[in-house]
Amino acid sequence: MRIPVIAGNWKLFKKTAQALQLVQDLAPLVKDVEDVEIIIAPSFTVLGPVRSLLFDSSISVAGQNCYWEEEGAFTGEISPGMLIDAGCSHVIIGHSERRQLFGETDENVNKKSKAAIRAGLTAIICIGETLQERESGETFTVLQRQISAALSNHSTSEMEQVILAYEPVWAIGTGKTARDDQAQEAHAFIRQLVAKLLTPTIADSLRILYGGSVKPDNIAGLMSQADIDGALVGGASLTAESFASIIRYGK
Ligand code: PGA
Repeated sequence: MRIPVIAGNWKLFKKTAQALQLVQDLAPLVKDVEDVEIIIAPSFTVLGPVRSLLFDSSISVAGQNCYWEEEGAFTGEISPGMLIDAGCSHVIIGHSERRQLFGETDENVNKKSKAAIRAGLTAIICIGETLQERESGETFTVLQRQISAALSNHSTSEMEQVILAYEPVWAIGTGKTARDDQAQEAHAFIRQLVAKLLTPTIADSLRILYGGSVKPDNIAGLMSQADIDGALVGGASLTAESFASIIRYGK
């Protein structure tokens, strides 16, 4: 039984006052939700204040990125241990914006994931093809390359701290969601691949989230698919009402 996960990626939005307001508005709207794991990923500077406000809530907090070293002369980086220190239990790794805008490679993603897990975080590893890759029929090749690299050297017990997020790059922030059957096809492929690379048992218990223009009006269709176990939500996680209605998709 895979517990659904709905995660909000706030990206480069919300300073302290707005972040605290959003959390204050969101928490009561989802207080009665027990069957969905809820995660929010604010920017680094507000992690501490947001976490403090959530002390009696089941909402978890994630970093949006981390480095693979725990400490040292790495100006501008943040370590997995620092995220834990700020109250995080999860970290997003390899988001397509990091890959495209900040040059992150599959190898970086693997190192970050290993370091995050070692520190005790759950890694939400993002994968997904660009429009060009989809149109040239390379979707599954790209997914295979990204997943094999990201999960390389991950043991069975480390995989308990991994969540995958399939985010087709062409669907992120564009308003174009993958059709339910398109998303399911990719998720089923990912699960079969994980079964082959690791074991069927790991594949069976792995949560695979969908991301890319998830909104209150398309979440139920996506969640009705056999291999979709949740969502990584960008734009629609920035207001309490829309994020709460995504979290409450089944209600
Ligand atoms: P979006 O972003 O929901 O705004 O498309 C999703 C993401 O980038 O994780």
